[in-house]
Amino acid sequence: MRLEGKKILLIIGGGIAAYKSLELIRAIRKEGGEVKTILTKAGTEFVTPLSVASLSGHHVYQDLFSLTDETEMGHIELSRSADLVVVAPATADLMAKAAQGLANDLASTTLLATDKRVLMAPAMNVRMWLHPATQRNVACLKQDGIGLIGPDEGAMACGEFGPGRMAEPLAILEVVIATLSAPASLPLSGKHVVITSGPTHEPIDPVRYIANRSSGKQGHAIARAAAKAGARVTLISGPVTLPDPEGVQVIHVEDARAMLQAVEQALPADVAIFCAAVADWRVASAGTQKIKKEKAGPPHIELTENPDILATIAQAKTHRPPLVIGFAAETEHVLAHAQAKRIKKQCDWIVANDVSPASGVMGGDQNTVHLLRGETVSSWPLMDKTAVAEALVHEIALALKTSSHENQ
Ligand code: CTP
Repeated sequence: MRLEGKKILLIIGGGIAAYKSLELIRAIRKEGGEVKTILTKAGTEFVTPLSVASLSGHHVYQDLFSLTDETEMGHIELSRSADLVVVAPATADLMAKAAQGLANDLASTTLLATDKRVLMAPAMNVRMWLHPATQRNVACLKQDGIGLIGPDEGAMACGEFGPGRMAEPLAILEVVIATLSAPASLPLSGKHVVITSGPTHEPIDPVRYIANRSSGKQGHAIARAAAKAGARVTLISGPVTLPDPEGVQVIHVEDARAMLQAVEQALPADVAIFCAAVADWRVASAGTQKIKKEKAGPPHIELTENPDILATIAQAKTHRPPLVIGFAAETEHVLAHAQAKRIKKQCDWIVANDVSPASGVMGGDQNTVHLLRGETVSSWPLMDKTAVAEALVHEIALALKTSSHENQ
């Protein structure tokens, strides 16, 4: 019994696939899990409250303003008492409401009020699924950390063919089990990791900016690796062309000052990794109007220093993460410059890499790095950025484990 003692709140939306949710309830209970249910008004068109109640062995919650439902268990409590919230079938309407944060019925209010992980099993007509509006909502939901199961591809009840069928109940069950068994067993479970990535764009006027060649590949790879290791990850990204990593909360910013503000708002964290290539300078007084070509010649652009995000956080009096990691991109005297940077900025570790044109790493998929921890230097061979990210996350997990043992 792989779900012994686990509580699942199942929200059943109004789609023909709702009949499969009855099977899901049975499958969860067979594994020892407890299922409480919310049935939307549209859901009652496809399955009856009586069949849901009989199979779950519990009252079926249906109405936000029902006096009996609210006195038995308030909607806030209902949303928090479960270990996991599963929406199956997740209709286009329910997904749109959740993506927008609407709360105009019991199901949507519960999704907004919950502090638990949410899984959704979408089910809808293929055109509805492929519609840009639904795909926008899917992207929003993923960004908010909601897990999607399916949809499957195949013949649909409406006679069309393509993606949109709800995943099979047993497939949903396996994801439920994996999600609920994951936390304790992964190396960074329960840890919050904040990562900066990509370049910053510093405006000159509304149409021009100062930028650099950072691709964000390394920072994004670290975010993915940390999420895979079970951490809650907040990725603060400058403008990049990369997709948002799945299961990671991504905050998009343009310039250095916005990046610092987003990092401060994301704290507290157990680890902060500063991978972004932050512009050292910004234009002192960026114009609100486009600078016109003057006869007097090119304009004089005055620069002023940007805040150093890494140094600010590493030297913060409150909420300094226990492990602060910086990056040092150097073109010569790599180790010496990186060590000086670590001491000056007061971070715990620094990951140094050689970005001289001869190294060929800038913007590429590979990296040769040295990890400086105090006076200890570990030099890693040329590796894919994904492998560098995984190796770094491994070292972080080991360090956190050691420090938690030391504190016991
Ligand atoms: N960094 C930062 N905020 C800045 C500048 C840099 O958070 N305004 C961080 C980077 O994310 C990286 C580290 O500091 O982790 C090193 O950045 P780098 O630009 O190499 O350091 P600088 O202090 O700017 O040194 P220099 O440009 O002289 O090499």
